[in-house]
Amino acid sequence: MDLSVENIINKKFETIFDKLGLDKKFAAVKNSDRPDLSDFQCNGALALAKSERKNPREIAQKIAEQLEQDNDIEKISVDGPGFINITLKNEFIARNMDEVAADERFGCAKVSQPQNIVIDSGGPNVAKLMHIGHLRPAVIGESIRRIEKFVGNKVISDVHFGDWGTPMGMIISEIENLHPDWPYFDDARTDGFPSEHPYDVNEVTELYKKASAHCKEDEAAREKARIITAKFQDGHPGYRALWKHLRDVSVDAVKEVYGELDVNFDLWLGESDAHETCKEIMKIAKDKGILEKDEGAEIIRLEESNKPKPPVILEKSDGGFTYAATDIATIKMRCDDLKADEIIYVTDLRQSLHFEQVFEASKMLGICPDTKLVHIGFGTVNGKDGKPFKTRDGGVMNLADLIALSKETVRKSVPESAPGYSKEDIAKLVDDITIGAIKFQDMKNNIASGYVFDLEDFAKFDGKTGPYIQYAIARINSIIRKAQESNIKESKIVISNEEERNLALKIAQLNATVMRAHNDKEPGIIADYAYTLAQSFSSFYNASSIVNAETADLAGSRLKLARLVRDILKLQLYLLGIASPEAMLKSQEAAA
Ligand code: ARG
Repeated sequence: MDLSVENIINKKFETIFDKLGLDKKFAAVKNSDRPDLSDFQCNGALALAKSERKNPREIAQKIAEQLEQDNDIEKISVDGPGFINITLKNEFIARNMDEVAADERFGCAKVSQPQNIVIDSGGPNVAKLMHIGHLRPAVIGESIRRIEKFVGNKVISDVHFGDWGTPMGMIISEIENLHPDWPYFDDARTDGFPSEHPYDVNEVTELYKKASAHCKEDEAAREKARIITAKFQDGHPGYRALWKHLRDVSVDAVKEVYGELDVNFDLWLGESDAHETCKEIMKIAKDKGILEKDEGAEIIRLEESNKPKPPVILEKSDGGFTYAATDIATIKMRCDDLKADEIIYVTDLRQSLHFEQVFEASKMLGICPDTKLVHIGFGTVNGKDGKPFKTRDGGVMNLADLIALSKETVRKSVPESAPGYSKEDIAKLVDDITIGAIKFQDMKNNIASGYVFDLEDFAKFDGKTGPYIQYAIARINSIIRKAQESNIKESKIVISNEEERNLALKIAQLNATVMRAHNDKEPGIIADYAYTLAQSFSSFYNASSIVNAETADLAGSRLKLARLVRDILKLQLYLLGIASPEAMLKSQEAAA
């Protein structure tokens, strides 16, 4: 249930608007633009003035009068051209905090009509190690998955493995050149293929590199790879058996990296799973009369109404289905099988046009009439030179290496041993800080903007970083422990000073924050809130001792506020996909 102060004030305004016969649409309040003057403001009178043909101040005055007797409100004023400013009574805020602290969702609402949401934020490719380009979809997708679940939607995430195109044909061709006598290449054979994987993932990756080099320089190699691709897609038993081995070892490697990042998928489907549906899509397009032949390819032309877009190619002239066809077919499957109300794609911004085309074609085909299709495009991860991140020798940074390097950096700021900690505990702490640092950095700004990958900076314990929030939580854990050791018990919340009041009002913004992150699909809103909440807590704690509070009631109230902030910060990190270690350790250098 939405217990937020904002919601309560909104309801008060709605009742008054109703009573005065004003359009409730304009009754919304927001946090004050001038927190030094008021807590909330309602600007509805300005918007109403036009339709009511009245002076906005006059309308505002009428509304304000109705609130003068309200026991929850300390002060109400009409300012400027017609802003209504409200300051709340401390007792009201305190009562609200007690309710929020007693609620397991801290007063956060759920959506009124839960939706089936499918998230497509994986996209790793078979035979290629995951690289830095796969970091952002994983991290952002996981956070959106958690946020959507938290607000009450049913979420299914699908990794959408890239396991079907020419790269597979290229590798199979390479293997056939090396081992023509292997049973996979015996066209007459239909079963009894070896059950062991012939290669591990590193070997598969090497094979792919060699294969793509061959295909680049040799037309005949390209042609052979193309033929093999068509054959395995058509179901050639030997190629399919080998394809499955290659896919399996790649999936295992990918799962390991996602595991390290604590990124979770419900479905491990791939482009290959859409193959049969691609044929259905062709049929639907034909039946609708929107399939055209163009230089041997099968295409759908898009409406030129708002912005001219190139046509969608479904089938290439050589008969293979395209990336677009696969995505369109997958939309059909997600609508038919998963009953998706909304499908969210998280990919590099550079794929924006692809998704615009795919979405428009899907609507034209009528395969998803009621499904909302959303593409969230992110900016690139850059190196310190501002260009897309590369390894020192100019190659693509693979993701597992990036994580390992990041752990090395973090390890420097954590002591090698500490009383009460096993080696494993320390290693786990380093892992949690590293992943927290990487993920927080990735999401703290607008998703659409890129950022410079600078681990030294991300892993700092101060500033707007993941470790700073983790540290704030660990600090509150220790504050709570000390208070409990002094026999302090949580009691009714009392607002006794400015810092307590500010902290409570910050806590009161939780519901609105989560809802905004959900509506905008922007985890950065959560990151931002966590950071400012941690800062408010610091100011509060500097001003208000718990153990040495003036009275026992104040001590109990402050303990409760501290616990509430700790739990909310943990929830925020959870929504970002980040762990909250119970305690943090700083090495001498990091503490200095
Ligand atoms: N495998 C693709 C790539 O590496 C990304 C897939 C993104 N998702 C999708 N449904 N197209 O570029």
